[in-house]
Amino acid sequence: MGEAEIPFTLDRKSPASLSAQLANQLRSAVLGGILQPEQNLPATRRLAAEIGVSRGVVVRAFEQLSGEGFLESNGAGGTKVAIRPDIQNLPVKTKLPGLTSEAVGIINLAPGQPSGAPFRDREWRAAWKNAVSADVATHLPPVLGTHELRLAVAQHLAASRGVAVDGDDVVITAGTSDGLQLIMAMLRERQGQNGRPRVLVEDPGYPTARRVLAAAGAELMTVPVDEDGLRSSQLDSLSGMPDAVLVTPSHQYPLGGRMTVQERLGLLSWADENGVLVMEDDYDSEFRHKRMPLPAIASLPSNADVVLLGTFSKNLSPWLRCGYVVVRGQTGENLKQARAALDTPVSGILQSALAHYIQGGGLSRHISRARREYAHRRELLIARLGDRPDIELAALDGGLHAVSRFAQPSAEVVAAEALRQGVKLVPLSGYYADRAADNGLVIGYGAVTDLQLARALDVLLSLLD
Ligand SMILES: Cc1ncc(COP(=O)(O)O)c(C=O)c1O
Repeated sequence: MGEAEIPFTLDRKSPASLSAQLANQLRSAVLGGILQPEQNLPATRRLAAEIGVSRGVVVRAFEQLSGEGFLESNGAGGTKVAIRPDIQNLPVKTKLPGLTSEAVGIINLAPGQPSGAPFRDREWRAAWKNAVSADVATHLPPVLGTHELRLAVAQHLAASRGVAVDGDDVVITAGTSDGLQLIMAMLRERQGQNGRPRVLVEDPGYPTARRVLAAAGAELMTVPVDEDGLRSSQLDSLSGMPDAVLVTPSHQYPLGGRMTVQERLGLLSWADENGVLVMEDDYDSEFRHKRMPLPAIASLPSNADVVLLGTFSKNLSPWLRCGYVVVRGQTGENLKQARAALDTPVSGILQSALAHYIQGGGLSRHISRARREYAHRRELLIARLGDRPDIELAALDGGLHAVSRFAQPSAEVVAAEALRQGVKLVPLSGYYADRAADNGLVIGYGAVTDLQLARALDVLLSLLD
């Protein structure tokens, strides 16, 4: 098992000594399952240097926890977590004083967080080494993205989604939010400066997209959807005609179902007839657990204008802020002009590293590993919650999150009490815009360990009982 990496936050103004604070956080990491039985801790000298304290502070904290039975010192062999799984099963009752929600102790089940593993991947580090050893470029990165990354994205899409695109059809963005702003800039340019493009969004849907679109000048219209997403028959009874529609056809966000091919074709033919731009948010379709992915809307035969929005936030990490749009035809040209006018927000060195990583096969290997990891946690979730007659589980076909609905207590109350017990859970209500929300939670399981997930579900179940 690898060495532990924990973000310690020490407060020099606190009345508690630094070694007591460190001991508290280490204890909490063992209790919370962040540190696992047998896991090695860094050497005292190195940890002291990393967190900027004297070695004596670390030695005292280790000694304290060894005395309490949490750690075991093997002399020159280092210190490891003592084998006490019974300790890890104890419910955490209170948050330790002085800890922020990001610090050790909170098990965060907010959705949208993938496994942090790619950054420890040897191939990822090699890709960066390669990128930084290249000649230093003194010019700005190309506005549409580097040739290498555009090509790598096209190859990745062909292999993972069966979408046949040319590197020239790909524009690199700083993620989906940036892609949406770009599309808005293009639509506003088309309408003139006072134009407010009307954008139809799913309800419930991705709240960040609603916020970003509104901030970029969109007038939002919503359409109620269930897990299977938007149905083309709903489009005939809209109160007005939108300029664009944003859909998550492969994994409705957050409810988790998918639009059938018939519905996708229906949407395309309506969009074509009415000159509506379809924005396809294809954010996590690489993570299918049971069923095969359906073809992307952007790959179906149609004359409608479609922009595919892709992101590296789920299959790699949101920390990168990198994604892409796939565009064709006149809309593609207009979008490229909008990008040229706005300039690129994406770093050239990031693009080089990412292109190396994708082309060397690192990304697809990482996705396969992550898929197995997520599938395993999904099984764990089903094993814990699946049999409960009071819980309806959904969104389990793919992705990194699930939805649990229950009649009572209120999801907001459950989330507040869970947080008090060290578990962050997100109520479903935040995803709804204009309709009454179902009572339930969106449970992200991408970034937690199995042990953390098991403990968090124990807390959830105890609150529902
Ligand atoms: C529905 C949906 N689309 C896209 C994204 C990714 O957005 P970005 O690429 O801006 O990080 C997310 C992330 O949580 C999401 O939930």
